[in-house]
Amino acid sequence: MTEPVTDLSTRTIFITGSGGVLGSTYVRRMLAAGARVIGSDLPGARADALQATHEGNPNFRFYDLDVSDEAQVEGIFTRILGDGWQPNVVLNNAAITGELLMGAGKPFPDFKDISVSDWERTMRTNLTAPFMIARQMDRDIVGKYPCTLVNVASMYALNGAHHAIYEGMPFKNFAAYGVSKAGVHGLTVWLAGYWAERGATVNTIAPGAVFNNHSEEFQRRVGELIMAGRMAKPDEIADAMLFLASPAAGYITGQMINVDGGFSAW
Ligand SMILES: NC(=O)c1ccc[n+]([C@@H]2O[C@H](COP(=O)([O-])OP(=O)(O)OC[C@H]3O[C@@H](n4cnc5c(N)ncnc54)[C@H](O)[C@@H]3O)[C@@H](O)[C@H]2O)c1
Repeated sequence: MTEPVTDLSTRTIFITGSGGVLGSTYVRRMLAAGARVIGSDLPGARADALQATHEGNPNFRFYDLDVSDEAQVEGIFTRILGDGWQPNVVLNNAAITGELLMGAGKPFPDFKDISVSDWERTMRTNLTAPFMIARQMDRDIVGKYPCTLVNVASMYALNGAHHAIYEGMPFKNFAAYGVSKAGVHGLTVWLAGYWAERGATVNTIAPGAVFNNHSEEFQRRVGELIMAGRMAKPDEIADAMLFLASPAAGYITGQMINVDGGFSAW
């Protein structure tokens, strides 16, 4: 659906990795729901396209941000606050994904051939960076005004990958991805109790398999593992993300919300 059902007019939402498939959907939908949206991403084509799409919209701002760079993360809320907006929702959305690696023409080595540096690069972006963003929220925002953090995991955070469905595909599920996404939910539950008395909530969204021009064969294989029988549309993940970003989710903290068509329930 694309009709705004959630009122986000009291929300100023900061999103990492907002030029990607889901991030750009969140930006569009959140703007339509009345939020102020602060996009961020690595400089490049995705960032340029997002900025071009929302150019001239007074409710949209954009900051270059490499979430794996500690100094950049340490400065991000100072920059945003200094420019006059107070983010009260933060989405830890940026990640090294299988799709991203495929798009960059990166190979998917067998598990036995994965280098420690490849492993650590994924962990740095997918797990250490969400920690650094959260730590910066703690320093700059938490306790000063009510706020919420949404960490983005995956259906492969707490469920093992079905390796056979990737046979002959140009992309694979890689170990560091699932491990980093499990860790992200560990960060959620740890922080939820730590921040509660300072008026901040923390939740995890675990999207299922999102359709992004996958082959008919891949759709068939993954569809058999999903109760709904098909991949998700980006807007179907956004529906849940908008809810988690809204005041309506104010009494929810420390939870993982699976938006996966029933994949994790079987
Ligand atoms: N698409 C899916 O099927 C799916 C399923 C489950 C979970 N997710 C999760 O949802 C989130 C968004 O996924 P997506 O499908 O939009 O992926 P995507 O690959 O389209 O977008 C990821 C974005 O993160 C950005 N990014 C990567 N490294 C970065 C860095 N160091 N600093 C800043 N930005 C960086 C990329 O530039 C890109 O814009 C990710 O956390 C992903 O793991 C996606």
